[in-house]
Order: sequence, then C-alpha cells, then structure tokens
Amino acid sequence: MAVIGIGTDLVEVARVEAFAKRPGALERIFSPEEIDYCLSRKNKYEHLAVRFAAKEAVFKALPFDGVAFKNIRVLNLESGRPQVHVKDARAEGLTILISLSHTRRYATAQVVIEQCN
Ligand SMILES: CC(C)(COP(=O)(O)OP(=O)(O)OC[C@H]1O[C@@H](n2cnc3c(N)ncnc32)[C@H](O)[C@@H]1OP(=O)(O)O)[C@@H](O)C(=O)NCCC(=O)NCCS
Repeated sequence: MAVIGIGTDLVEVARVEAFAKRPGALERIFSPEEIDYCLSRKNKYEHLAVRFAAKEAVFKALPFDGVAFKNIRVLNLESGRPQVHVKDARAEGLTILISLSHTRRYATAQVVIEQCN
C-alpha cells in the first residue's frame, strides 16, 4: 500500500447550521443515511458540520477531480468509527482512512488515501 493523498478541513458549525436551515439544502449535499444519523443526535449541527468537513477533506485527498459531495458518504460502524464510501468508479482500489472531531464551534476531518501497489 502506498499513500497517494492526504486531506484536511476545518468547518465552523454555525455556518453549516445556517446552510442546513435553507429548504432542500441538506438533500443536495448529504445522503439520506447521513441526514438520518445527524438529525437523530442531540448536537445535530456538529455531526452535519463534521460530515461537511469530511467531504471537503476527501475531495482534497482524492487523486482526481469532479466528485459530487453527495457521492462522498460517511457512515459509522456500530462502534462509532467513521468510514468513507466514494461512489465513483475511479475510487476502486483506494483505501480511504478518516478521523473526525467536533466541538460546539468547530468540526474537523483528516483523511489519508492509500492505493495497492
Ligand atoms: C469515540 C471517542 C474517542 C470520540 O471522542 P470525543 O472526544 O468524544 O468526540 P470527537 O468530537 O473528538 O469525535 C467524535 C467522532 O469520533 C468518531 N468516532 C466515534 N467512535 C469512534 C471509534 N470507536 N473509533 C474512531 N472514531 C470514532 C465519530 O466520527 C464521531 O463523530 P460522528 O459521530 O459525527 O461520526 C470517545 O467518545 C470515546 O469513546 N472514547 C473512549 C474513551 C475511553 O474509553 N477511555 C478509556 C480510558 S479513560
């Protein structure tokens, strides 16, 4: 495995909250599973913000352009550990590692992408 990309992003939760309150905004960026996960949590805007940061960080780390944010998805294992799925044929064979963290004000994501040699 070789590391072929890294990405990071930092998002202000208040900006995502303002965005999320616009009609139809969430559905343009997030999958139904992501929306369900975030809206079911107490601090829903933090969870939405960190997923926004995750999509930006994955976008930066990918070795190609043009992926729609809606096709970059973060799902959580039962343990809570996040996993990324990129719906794009060009992402086949890539392993995407991600770590997320959020507070009331900020949300951040780090991504490393590996490819089989
Ligand atoms: C999972 C844990 C590390 C999250 O840390 P936190 O400081 O509470 O919260 P953060 O904002 O930094 O991170 C939250 C994100 O961590 C990620 N996360 C959750 N569980 C995870 C796990 N098991 N592994 C990796 N990442 C995890 C998620 O992406 C979550 O955000 P999301 O729910 O929006 O997807 C923490 O809650 C935990 O369980 N710690 C265990 C501590 C412990 O067992 N200590 C023992 C000795 S005292």
